[in-house]
Amino acid sequence: MIDNNDFKIRKIISSLKSSPIRNIANSVIGKKNIIPLYFGETDVATPSFISEAMKTALDEGHTFYSANQGIPDLIETISCYSSDLHKNNISPSRIMVTSAGMNALMIASEALINPNDKVICITPVWPNFMRCIEIMGGKVIEIPLRHHDNDNKWKLNLEEIKKNIKDAKAIYINTPNNPTGWVMSRNEQLEILEICRKEKVWVISDEVYERIIYDKKVAPSFLDISKDDDLLIVVNSFSKSWAMTGWRLGWMIIPEGLINIFEKLNEFNVASPSSPAQHAGLVAIKEGEKFIQNMINDLKLSRNITIKYLNNFSQVIFPYSEAAFYAYFKIKDISDSEKFCFDTLQSTGVGLAPGTSFGNGGESWVRICYAKSPDLLNEAFEKLKPVLS
Ligand SMILES: Cc1ncc(COP(=O)(O)O)c(C=O)c1O
Repeated sequence: MIDNNDFKIRKIISSLKSSPIRNIANSVIGKKNIIPLYFGETDVATPSFISEAMKTALDEGHTFYSANQGIPDLIETISCYSSDLHKNNISPSRIMVTSAGMNALMIASEALINPNDKVICITPVWPNFMRCIEIMGGKVIEIPLRHHDNDNKWKLNLEEIKKNIKDAKAIYINTPNNPTGWVMSRNEQLEILEICRKEKVWVISDEVYERIIYDKKVAPSFLDISKDDDLLIVVNSFSKSWAMTGWRLGWMIIPEGLINIFEKLNEFNVASPSSPAQHAGLVAIKEGEKFIQNMINDLKLSRNITIKYLNNFSQVIFPYSEAAFYAYFKIKDISDSEKFCFDTLQSTGVGLAPGTSFGNGGESWVRICYAKSPDLLNEAFEKLKPVLS
């Protein structure tokens, strides 16, 4: 019997929590007739104008390493796109292209987190950045959103943040939020920025869902209100806005003057993100507004179906979800969300993500991704009816 200790794997790594979502999904690998609502992606393939741009880039010989920072045309394009969206000048010297949002988050952790540094994470949240903190030897301080019964909305616990901010190295905020669909308000952003400036604490703002919002073009961003020397890292991605999850392409916006540091980290992680993918990313941004608009219109239909069903299921408490493409809901009388998701998958064939994936306190909660066709969603909810009514 081989013991992990024989390999001298770092203890922090061998004890890292694996993803409960993956555990559930792995249990049905190879099985037919599963409706997978557990992963965070649409069922729409990347639009052809982006795939064609990749093919052209390959034909034109863009098959070599790029600069660590990314290809200059893409950096310039992201600079124009972000400056325009956020009415703030985001200079190219603050932008680094990464191998998706995940890689940007890991690089942010590598740049900032010393062993035992405390990082506040607003939860529930997609857990990967919490694991990055742990990989670096840092300590996660979870500060949960509060669910208010009176208006059925999620609220930030500012008091608790203020109590903990002095000891923290950074605060990680994902807005629009996966899994709740909560969106941080402008006033909350101003307040967070002010206390972080005062205490010299980094804000790591994960804005990969900034375009997946239903009543405006873009969600409020820290980029709207910050200066270029604030301790702020904004993480973004091609995955969600342009249906490019498998491409592994994203970017990060960092304070002015630090690009040399971050380029080194790109060098020692991946050298540079995929060159042909970067050429396609450029076309995605330049020509992708119509695609985003159409996707949002489709998501509105799926969202309406989801709200209609969930509000009618007697076992479900579903707080209002403003943005992103998830529904995060509580199920009365369950206290082991992982077991519930395993059992539900066996009995209905519908794959849900357990609430325990997203931080402490998720034992009675589950998440679905509703970025699916209306037909598939209707079928899934009909199958869930006996379990949730
Ligand atoms: C909140 C959040 N941040 C970052 C990511 C990473 O996305 P990617 O690595 O595909 O860019 C995800 C993916 O689901 C996410 O939900």
